[in-house]
Amino acid sequence: MTNRYAIVLAAGQGTRMKSDLYKVLHPVCGKPMVGHVIDNIQQLGANRIVTIVGHGAEKVEETLGSASEYALQTEQLGTAHAVQQAEHLLGDLEGTTIVVCGDTPLIRSTTMKELIEHHEQVGAKATILTAFADDPTGYGRIIRGAAGEVLRNVEHKDATTEEQAVKEINTGTYCFDNKALFKALKKVRNDNAQGEYYLPDVLGILREEGALVSAYATEDFSETLGINDRVVLSQAEQVMRLRIAEMHMRNGVTIINPENTYISADAEIGRDTILQPGVMIEGKTIIGAGCEIGPNSQITESIIGNGTKIHSSVVLESKIGENTSVGPFAHIRPESDLGNEVRVGNFVEVKKSTFKDGSKAAHLSYIGDALVGSKVNFGCGTIVVNYDGKKKHVTTIEDEAFIGCNSNLVAPVTVGKGAYVAAGSTVTKDVPADALAISRARQENKEGYVSKLKLN
Ligand code: UD1
Ligand code: CA
Repeated sequence: MTNRYAIVLAAGQGTRMKSDLYKVLHPVCGKPMVGHVIDNIQQLGANRIVTIVGHGAEKVEETLGSASEYALQTEQLGTAHAVQQAEHLLGDLEGTTIVVCGDTPLIRSTTMKELIEHHEQVGAKATILTAFADDPTGYGRIIRGAAGEVLRNVEHKDATTEEQAVKEINTGTYCFDNKALFKALKKVRNDNAQGEYYLPDVLGILREEGALVSAYATEDFSETLGINDRVVLSQAEQVMRLRIAEMHMRNGVTIINPENTYISADAEIGRDTILQPGVMIEGKTIIGAGCEIGPNSQITESIIGNGTKIHSSVVLESKIGENTSVGPFAHIRPESDLGNEVRVGNFVEVKKSTFKDGSKAAHLSYIGDALVGSKVNFGCGTIVVNYDGKKKHVTTIEDEAFIGCNSNLVAPVTVGKGAYVAAGSTVTKDVPADALAISRARQENKEGYVSKLKLN
């Protein structure tokens, strides 16, 4: 098989985004757009991947890590100049090179594969991936000869009115014979409207030398969206959102309204799980099978076991077991670990706490920095007082303890196995296993007090 290489262009600032964040790092469905591009390229089995970095080089390299090699473009003189920066890494190699822009995250790896196969089959020196746009404004236009052969690309700003009417556009993805590419790049000039070295000029150069230049057209224009500003960013987000939702639905997930359900590109969801409207699943979240995620829940970087129900709640960087119930209106904060058949009900906040199997805090509680055993019951209004104004302390509540309503457990404190805490108590000392702790004023009834008061 022919060796294959990939070059990703990601050195631009992205002026039109009007952002402090470098363009290719703007997320689409939770993943930086250039991350999508690299993921898609990785599926092609390329021998080497080189990303051209410039603006925000360190940040881009940090984001992509070892998934790519890097070449630095210190000055952004155009896309041809960008590709040239990879010459010292790839210039001498035999094979096919695919070039993809870091701002076109929607081009599927299957489309890239089709492009490469077409290129190799027809034996072209260069093949451009094109699409047909209803509104081609801003894109390069493909100029074809009388027999339909590709002559060259002309950039929007350099195009005549007649050329601007062409609907076939350059998607910014190309395949080249690697050696022919680097040879032709030396001939690219910058005498154009933008004073830049344009990569697509390579097509015209090779064509004039008598080489075969080809085009492969995709049917789906939405795949080729180049994100230059935030309006297109939101369009790309929508396309990707529906694509991700469709993938999960085909895998057996019910999504009541995919239009307003937000699932990150990296999330995994088991079959027969139901997502109600307004759900947001962010980061590398894993949700098991047969779960019910109720309206407007936000689940970020978390692992949820099979058969669990989460209703109108927020779960952040936490782990939740099987057949557990969370919400409505619960807040599970980072580093929490709830076991199986746990119940965390309405208006309960859990922070950095562990609940073993079968424990319950059903209503109006704050549980912070606590190690909770199994089958513990927190009555309504329990507060774990974890903060003394300077430091946070741990509270331990052992298996089967029963905490009465409206109790305060002042950390650090331990409630032993099976112990009871009477309602309304403020616990400041450890409670031994099997004991009852009462820590509240004893009730006194003054007989006839009220009528006496009224007589005076
Ligand atoms: C480019 C194409 C255009 C095509 C469109 C598709 C050129 C000259 N034009 O235009 O024909 O229709 O993509 O989306 O190639 N970059 C660098 N270094 C540079 C300049 C750009 O790395 O010196 C990177 C950018 O970070 C970006 C990509 O190359 O990821 C494309 O550059 P951009 O300025 O967005 O090109 P377009 O004007 O969109
Ligand atoms: Ca672009």
